[in-house]
Order: sequence, then structure tokens, then C-alpha cells
Amino acid sequence: MRYAHIIGWGKSLPEKVLTNDEIAQMVDTNDDWIFARTGIRERRIAGDDESTATLALAAARAALETTDLNPADLDLIIVASCSPEHIFPATACLVEDALGARNAGAFDLSAACSGWIYGVSLAAQSIATREIDHAMVIGAETLSRFVNWEDRTTCILFGDGAGAVILGPSEQPGGVLSTVLGADGSGAHTLALPAGGSRMPASHETIDNGLHKIRMDGRKVFRFATRVMRQATIEAVEKAGLTMDEIALVIPHQANMRIIESAARGLKLPEDRVFVNLDRYGNTSSASIPIALCEAFDAGLVQPGDRLVTVGFGAGLTWGAAVIQWVAEPVPERRWRNRVRAVLYLLARIRSGLRRFWRRVETWLFRPPAPGA
Ligand code: COA
Repeated sequence: MRYAHIIGWGKSLPEKVLTNDEIAQMVDTNDDWIFARTGIRERRIAGDDESTATLALAAARAALETTDLNPADLDLIIVASCSPEHIFPATACLVEDALGARNAGAFDLSAACSGWIYGVSLAAQSIATREIDHAMVIGAETLSRFVNWEDRTTCILFGDGAGAVILGPSEQPGGVLSTVLGADGSGAHTLALPAGGSRMPASHETIDNGLHKIRMDGRKVFRFATRVMRQATIEAVEKAGLTMDEIALVIPHQANMRIIESAARGLKLPEDRVFVNLDRYGNTSSASIPIALCEAFDAGLVQPGDRLVTVGFGAGLTWGAAVIQWVAEPVPERRWRNRVRAVLYLLARIRSGLRRFWRRVETWLFRPPAPGA
């Protein structure tokens, strides 16, 4: 039997920090209220030269650095995002091009904050069935660009960032042991970005009415979240043939401390078995779990053989959970390998430039035959 293991991980966060006190200068709120109701102290905000694709690319490169793979070894790149670079082309294709991952298929996945778990589920099954060998699953967001900075009920919550993992094949039992995915579209309106799609294309009216910004019914989302976090965790653990006692660490979607605490209480989990970094980053949507996973690994909270649950929920409404057994050890850093990769990234840029140039020449040389010719 073939198992899909996490063999690489990386994250990328913008440098700019936005504190609660700074938000309090923009809307009628304060640090005490935000921290008491959400657990958030500060979040990161993308700079002018940053976007979902640049953060995704930086996380992807960081993930490659923890492995002995080159970009050409990747067979699949999935970018989970609800704030992609464009409606199309996919952000994943931009990452593929910049990495020089010339053998990879690439697509974006829209399942909001559950997106990274959806991506891991698809990638792990593709590896287990021998369809592919190596997949990069990235969660990347710049939700700050879609937040209404005059709406105190939403602007306090979200932050920007990206996290990536690389999944690879192994005959050794472990890796992604089970996944559970769920959706309930009857709650689609509770958390949405109404305009900009085919239903409501951009117009003066949509802009004047603020329909390109996040709308949320916080209380409804809260109730839904507390229920599904617990349920999805239990289902995924049962599906993996385990009990909660065998789970070393739960890495929940970092949306709200009260939601996390309520789920932990329902699962009878002590504080030290639930990972939290929400205070520093806020809700980074699809990026929140992979960023948290990276920090848990890097802090040595996960030992080889440990079983983890990652669990999330989000717009859609969607939810998902994955039980993952940690087996891989990071490859020790070797400077020459990073130098080789730096050269490969440069070659990828040259290759991309040449392909663009050739596409222009080709269009000029080979015109399609006129109709009826
Ligand atoms: N600062 C100060 N007061 C605020 C505020 C803010 N930033 N935002 C809302 N309030 C006020 C409200 O206007 C309301 O005042 P009122 O009682 O006079 O009407 C009061 O605080 C309580 O509002 P309520 O919406 O009941 O607060 P809450 O305890 O539900 O907390 C959220 C609000 C948004 C923090 C909470 O509902 C939440 O986190 N929901 C889940 C959202 C989420 O996770 N979304 C992402 C999903 S991936």
C-alpha cells in the first residue's frame, strides 16, 4: 500500500503588522474588546508589492527548502484561496511558472478557510492511487484587500499570509490517514463576497454599495463553526480507526479563540493539545492551518510518529478535517542545494520570458487560416 506523507512545509507572512490599537484608530473598537471576543492581538497585512501569488510562491519555496526535491519533481500544485490573484488564470499557474515546476498540473481550489484541507485530501488520494508522486498544497490569502475597513465586525478578524506543504509517496504507514469534507450551501449567504462574479459583475452600483467587500453574519458563522469543528474532528479520527487519546495535537483553523476553546471543551482536549497562533496572525483563511502546522513543526511540538488532526470551517459553508501521522524528518539544510534551487528559479524566469517571446513570434508567424480558406 502507498501512503501520502508530508515531506516539506513552509510559510510566508507579510512584514507589516497591524495591531488592534491601530484598528481602533480606524473604527469604533478597542484592543480589549477584540482580544476578549476573538483572541486576536495583531495580524499581518500585505504590502503594495505583495499579493496572494507572491506569498504563495514564497511559502512554496520555503517548503521546497525543507526537502531534497527540485521544482521539476512536483506533479501537482494546488493553491487553496478565496482571495486569489485573479478570477482566472489560477494563482497556482503563476506559482508553477515562477517555480519552474514544468511537470506539474496546477489549479486553484475554492473552499474558503477549509480549502487547504480539501486540497490535502485530493492530493493525498492522487498519491495513494499512484496517479502522481509529489504534490504541493498551498493555502494563500490577501483578504486585507477584500475587507471593508469601515466595518468593525469584520475588519478586526482577517489577516494575510501563506502556508505550503509538500506531500510525497511512501510505503511506510502514516501520512494522511483520513480526511472528512463537508459542505452546506444553505449557509452560503452568511459569509460572502457578493460581487465580482458572474452573478454580480463589477459595476458602479456594486462598488458604491460595497459589494466587493466581505459580508458576514458573525453569530451564525460562530454557531456553525463550534458544531462542525467538534463533529468533523470526531468523524476524521474514527475514520482513521483511532481515538482522541491517540491524537497528540489538534491544529484548528485559527478564526476565533472562543470557537477553538468551545471545540476543545467538546472534545475534552486540554489546552496543550490544541495549537494556537491566532493572537499574532488573525484569521488567514485557507492559509491558517498550514501556517500553524509549520509553526508547530518548527517549535518541536510534533515528534515523529505523532498523529495530528487539522480541522477547519469556512464560507460555503464548508468544513473539513484530516488526521495526519507525522513521520518525515526535515532534510538538513545544505547550502549547495539552496544554491542549485536559486539557479533553477533564475532559469525558470528566463524560460518564462523566452516562452512569452516565442508565443509572440509564433502568433506573428503562424496566423490561423481565414474562415473558408
Ligand atoms: N468592537 C466593539 N464592538 C463591536 C465590534 C468591535 N469590533 N464588533 C461588534 N461589536 C458590537 C456589536 O455592534 C454588538 O453591539 P450591540 O449589542 O450594541 O448590537 C456587540 O458588539 C455584540 O456583537 P456580536 O456580533 O453579538 O458579538 P459576538 O460576540 O458574536 O462577536 C464576532 C462578534 C464577529 C467576533 C463573532 O461573532 C465571531 O467571531 N464569529 C465568527 C466569525 C468567523 O470566524 N468568521 C470567519 C469564518 S472562517
